[in-house]
Amino acid sequence: MTCSKRAAEPPVFSIGTIPVRGDLVLAPMDGFTDWPFRVICRELGSAMVYTEFVNVDEIAHSRRAESAARLKLKYSEMERPVAFQIYGHVDERLVEIARVLQDLGPDIIDLNLGCAIRKIAERGAGAGMLKDPARLGRLFAALSVALRIPVTAKIRLGWDDRSRNYLEVAKALEDNGCALIAVHARTKEQALSGPVDWSAIAEIKARARIPILGNGNVRTPGDMDAIKRETHCDGVMIGRAAIGHPWIFSRREKESIPLAESIAMARRHLGMMIELYGPEYGCLIFRKHAVRYVHHLTSVGKLRSRLVLCSNVAEYESLFAEAMEISKQS
Ligand SMILES: Cc1cc2nc3c(=O)[nH]c(=O)nc-3n(C[C@H](O)[C@H](O)[C@H](O)COP(=O)(O)O)c2cc1C
Repeated sequence: MTCSKRAAEPPVFSIGTIPVRGDLVLAPMDGFTDWPFRVICRELGSAMVYTEFVNVDEIAHSRRAESAARLKLKYSEMERPVAFQIYGHVDERLVEIARVLQDLGPDIIDLNLGCAIRKIAERGAGAGMLKDPARLGRLFAALSVALRIPVTAKIRLGWDDRSRNYLEVAKALEDNGCALIAVHARTKEQALSGPVDWSAIAEIKARARIPILGNGNVRTPGDMDAIKRETHCDGVMIGRAAIGHPWIFSRREKESIPLAESIAMARRHLGMMIELYGPEYGCLIFRKHAVRYVHHLTSVGKLRSRLVLCSNVAEYESLFAEAMEISKQS
């Protein structure tokens, strides 16, 4: 369904006063969910979008519009509702920069409370903030007063298995003005692998009066139905399964996308990357998407290893043509 058709539909849930007209949401992913990828996913059915996380200290120092941190915050009107995701370890700084960033026009400011990267979490930002729910309560109270737009959070279940304090964290957030919580159903220690515990999302949802997004290992339309059934979450947040397969937001199975359709999307995606980053860097960082768009050709390892070396449009085009030839023959 297109965004314009969806605009006429009743909201599935609201973030403060902001209606969200769908139950599938692209997860924030650093290095992936930039303007090109978000536009594509939003068109195909993601009901709202989050930017990649931005470090509040970095953004404070990058005044130039073309700086890496500022490019992360570029968005189109059609993407709305747009959440800017921020992280940092000094509460006053987070509040100060959130206030500055709201003037760039996002619908929501989201605080990252889930990043497991050591240099971030161990400095007390990202998942490091989960250790002190009372402090989080004070921070959200301050953010709610300082901002005229809703403030939301993306959390994990806790620091590790011995400190799964998600109920305490969710309560502190909600009691202090947080308007939505996205829950990645793993601990910080688990990073991005190991079993997800959707039952924890169900526990949070059962107690919450604000919308809850369930996240972690949703890879197929069947998984979307399962997480909703098991947790009663208001929406489903999808990360890795969308890379190379943005059609997941239209509830299409990965295997059902013909290679020609995938390659047509890859071309468009590459064009937008070049528009945002320029030809050199755009081609370079498109590699990680390119290999995922041709997942059909798993047997053709050589083609994939050549795709990760492409550095200009002509090289991509020649490999896309080769991929089409191979698929015709097989
Ligand atoms: C490459 C990558 C980058 C990520 N960057 C972010 C980020 O910037 N902010 C965030 O909250 N989570 C980030 N995440 C976590 C995802 O949002 C999501 O919680 C996680 O991948 C689990 O969902 P999935 O199983 O659907 O991928 C990242 C994950 C990956 C794989």
